Amino acid sequence: MAQSRPRVWVSQPLFDDIVGQVAAHCDVRATPEVTEYGQDAIAAALRDCDGALVTLNERIGTDAIAAAPRLRVIANVGVGYDNLDVAALDAAGIVATNTPDVLTETTADLGFALLMAAARRIVESERWLREGQWKQWSFSSMLGADVHGSTLGILGMGRIGRAIARRGHHGFGMKVLYHNRSRLPAGVERETGAQYVDFDALLAQADHLVLVLPYSPASHHLIGAAALARMKPTATVVNIARGGLVDEIALADALAQGRLGAAGLDVYEGEPAVRPELLALRNVVLTPHIGSASRHTRRAMVQLAVDNLLAALGIGPRAGHPPTPVTAKKTTAAVAGQGAAEKR
Ligand code: GLV
Repeated sequence: MAQSRPRVWVSQPLFDDIVGQVAAHCDVRATPEVTEYGQDAIAAALRDCDGALVTLNERIGTDAIAAAPRLRVIANVGVGYDNLDVAALDAAGIVATNTPDVLTETTADLGFALLMAAARRIVESERWLREGQWKQWSFSSMLGADVHGSTLGILGMGRIGRAIARRGHHGFGMKVLYHNRSRLPAGVERETGAQYVDFDALLAQADHLVLVLPYSPASHHLIGAAALARMKPTATVVNIARGGLVDEIALADALAQGRLGAAGLDVYEGEPAVRPELLALRNVVLTPHIGSASRHTRRAMVQLAVDNLLAALGIGPRAGHPPTPVTAKKTTAAVAGQGAAEKR
């Protein structure tokens, strides 16, 4: 009996030419405009699908998974996948994939840009100039914190953390300290110029602290009032990971009261909403979750997600072997390449 073409949902407008590679093999339901979905809309979209390309905005939870009997793969266009219930996907035998590596350097660039902008008061001083407040050059105005030669603290030493460490060590002569679930091999420490320290030492010694660890319930509000109180009052905090890592009210209080020097944030707990307490501050630089947003990298992310999706559906040169799965190997091996009807 002839097999029907797999059905694929694409949750947001991506790059048509790359998504076109899916349309060559599958019936694609694309979304022409940026769309915000509730849980019911996600469940309805997935109900009759074999696969989906989704972004970090779409939360894929147990109800949607239970209501999607044909579903074989969720290809997330992003490296972080806290929007996916990976345990439930694994239990249902559905492959989940993400897009690591291709965005590492671009995201590290943005982390460094935020660090420099916050420490050297670039956005604040630009705004002041545009407001016409620059009447006379002044020796003592807009004094910030040095980046070169200072101590860079990195919390989370995965690929992006290491790329930031290299920039700090090799480019800016910084002393680089890191804290991570596990210590890195000596060769990686040497190459990145990074020294392992415990969490408290990292907080106490960093002149600039960059958060690059994954978000999970265990890391919720890791940077809260207690952690901030252990930091130098001149320090900078940069968050390019997930908003939930930081207690934003405690951060705003510390910044407003001079207990912390500055912050650079690309991610927020309730994004796209940003707390008014943060918006009101001059010593925080705010960007709208653009860590991986270069033209080249965003295309590479979509291409990797498409490669993952097709492979998990048993199509193309990597059939059965999606390049970057996040679900267990046995789920990937069992599902990839099977017909939808055989799955459950
Ligand atoms: C962006 O935040 C990503 O996880 O790729």
